[in-house]
Amino acid sequence: MIEEYIKPLKIGELTAKLPLIQGGMGVGVSLSSLAGAVAAEGGIGVLSTAQIGFYRPDFEKNPLAANLKAIAEQVKLAREKSRGGIIGANIMVATKNYKDYVCAAVKAGVDLIISGAGLPANLPEYVKGSVVKIAPIVSSEKAAKTICKLWDRHYRRVPDMVIVEGPLAGGHLGFSEDQLEPFIRKNPLAAAKQMSVYDSEICKIIEVASGYGEKYGMEIPVVVAGGIDTPEKAEHYLSLGASGIQIATPFVATEECDAHRAFKEAYVRAKDEDVVILKSPVGMPGRGLKNAFLERVHRGEKREIHCRQCLQHCNPAAIPYCITEALIRAVRGDVENGLIFCGANVGKIEKISTVHTVIENIFG
Ligand SMILES: Cc1cc2nc3c(=O)[nH]c(=O)nc-3n(C[C@H](O)[C@H](O)[C@H](O)COP(=O)(O)O)c2cc1C
Repeated sequence: MIEEYIKPLKIGELTAKLPLIQGGMGVGVSLSSLAGAVAAEGGIGVLSTAQIGFYRPDFEKNPLAANLKAIAEQVKLAREKSRGGIIGANIMVATKNYKDYVCAAVKAGVDLIISGAGLPANLPEYVKGSVVKIAPIVSSEKAAKTICKLWDRHYRRVPDMVIVEGPLAGGHLGFSEDQLEPFIRKNPLAAAKQMSVYDSEICKIIEVASGYGEKYGMEIPVVVAGGIDTPEKAEHYLSLGASGIQIATPFVATEECDAHRAFKEAYVRAKDEDVVILKSPVGMPGRGLKNAFLERVHRGEKREIHCRQCLQHCNPAAIPYCITEALIRAVRGDVENGLIFCGANVGKIEKISTVHTVIENIFG
């Protein structure tokens, strides 16, 4: 039963009442309203800093400055809503000026920084002198070992927590197209087999974290993400030895989520067959909802790109579309002409509810 696994999530001296993290969702899907509401319920609320300043009037003229100001604004608002709960920031390693974003989040007073879409090799250096906790997102034992070894060697420290993101997650995915094949082909037997292989990967990552934790005389909690939307699935990962779960897709269809209502309604309408694995201009696969926009991309249609310098390894001349533009269009409600990221289980969402209900449906 899930009840026996509901223990507080401890990250050093930070303690969340529930073993729950709300996954960061860019662009603009997890801002202060959603993050504050999750933190107030006893989970950890996470803002995504990806083009977080898109709502500001100065964004088009100077996106970096607008984004850095928006980090301060959104952290303050989330804190006001959080009733003393824990607020984190999700900052993608692939972000151009990554260090500036990390420093802005530290200055704004977040409790922790979660970083994926690449390995956050220099993150310890950027948070040095602060009490902010740091957590890399990994999808393999190899990546977990690499980051622990790197930080141990260069910074004499280890992650405060490790997030393991599996193949059912939304947004960018840390897997090759080969590994995602059963999910692309929607072959349930092959997908189930892949998920059980993934369970053993999770156990190996827990061993890596516990080994490095022992070396530093601390516990490094491992939190699992991707496709967790029932008490049974939560219990499964917690029984494997995970200290918590990270959930994103179910939180989109809530009143508190920061996305436009049309974005939430697209989640409610979505059926399993609408979910596709796409090639993102970032060079990674991603999961999203089929719509007119993706059909145009599939046909090879291109639009003129107005570059906002968001990603390190993006070449505007070589990409089929601008991911910033596509994500902003969707979060503003233009769900046919924008890119709607989602997790594999979006088809199970039946209505727009509240953060409290989503949490209650999992933890009782
Ligand atoms: C709309 C959407 C946007 C996302 N954006 C990001 C992001 O900007 N950075 C990131 O690290 N993960 C991102 N993710 C992944 C989530 O944080 C989370 O780990 C994952 O989706 C969990 O799986 P679930 O959605 O099945 O619960 C996104 C997910 C969704 C659904």
